[in-house]
Amino acid sequence: MDDRGDAPITLDDYEAAALARLPTMVADYYAGGAGEERTLRENRAAFARWTFRPRVLVDVSNVELATTVLGAKVPFPILVAPTAFHRLADTEGEVATAKGVLATGTTMVVSTIASVRLEDVAETGADRWFQLYVFRDRELTSTLVKRAYGAGYRAIVLTVDTPLLGTRYRDERNRFQLPDGVGLANLAVSDLPPEDEAGRPGSSLSHFFAGEHDASLSWADLPWLRSLAPLPLVLKGIVTAEDARLAVAAGVDGIVVSNHGGRQLDGAPATLDALPEVVEAVAGRAEVYLDGGVRRGSDVLTALALGAKAVFVGRPVLWGLAVDGAAGVTAVLEMLRDELRLAMQLTGTPSVASITRSLVGPAVRSD
Ligand code: FNR
Ligand code: LAC
Repeated sequence: MDDRGDAPITLDDYEAAALARLPTMVADYYAGGAGEERTLRENRAAFARWTFRPRVLVDVSNVELATTVLGAKVPFPILVAPTAFHRLADTEGEVATAKGVLATGTTMVVSTIASVRLEDVAETGADRWFQLYVFRDRELTSTLVKRAYGAGYRAIVLTVDTPLLGTRYRDERNRFQLPDGVGLANLAVSDLPPEDEAGRPGSSLSHFFAGEHDASLSWADLPWLRSLAPLPLVLKGIVTAEDARLAVAAGVDGIVVSNHGGRQLDGAPATLDALPEVVEAVAGRAEVYLDGGVRRGSDVLTALALGAKAVFVGRPVLWGLAVDGAAGVTAVLEMLRDELRLAMQLTGTPSVASITRSLVGPAVRSD
């Protein structure tokens, strides 16, 4: 933040303030991406490849931001993406995040590898979906889904871009490990393997995924997964028309166009670049969401104009949590909401329902 004061006025201000106070290992784990971090950078850069086609003389004195996701009303089309280990940023962890989310009325997706139990998050009353990692121990997966259903989670978000963890050089160099007292609360795992099978050090989280996550998961497993609980199913991590069609054929209720925030396959397309082909392939047969690099209200509007029903934000919520706990989470989400409202007013868009593809066009490149 510059020296005009310490009150953050953008999500990037929250990032800078959070990075300044988090230990390096945590800051790198939260901020980092896979490989050369090309996809991480492209997620944000992609938004500059579009410009708005603003309309004028439209009454925007009262803009309606509310919409529905999976049939439930949300006050604005911005939800919280699942991110692991919130207790690295705040002692209350995902409970604090949920309290911050509750204050806004939007929805939080809680990670399988959260640092507090999914039941404890549920007790906050925040609207919630459960993000699922499928481990080789399928009984564990079944138990997790049933626990989430019993705790009032309204959907299962199956992450499909993580058969193994992407290589994050920052975490490898830092030999990422959870500090004492922070663990995978839903799995009763308190420490992660410091070395891989060959005895090499590096990211303990990467070693955990290599040893426990089920890389054999395939489309054939979806009927089993759906049988575990009567909940809507969302697939998170699709970036191609081919997989979007397979997801629709499998009867999923939603698709998150996601590359895991650039943390999995470096070289995967920016999510905004992948969004149009997925929206076209789905053709309204499921809801399509986007995450990755959303940092401005105008980014939200661009994604909705390109066909997303809503967007998810990951890192910005962690920045708000690190800076000011639950209040920081609320502040970040409300900042993004207010920026969206202004972008809609300045483009002559009086409601989320009135956002159309004609609102954006490809940026004319000067180079
Ligand atoms: C994530 N993400 C993630 N996704 C998931 O399905 N399960 C998880 O446990 C996690 N954990 C996680 C931790 C951290 C520190 C980050 C930054 C991300 C990915 C997340 O859900 C989302 O796809 C991206 O974060 C979206 O990009 P932005 O908003 O962070 O740019
Ligand atoms: C990550 C895993 C946990 O991105 O999803 O760190």
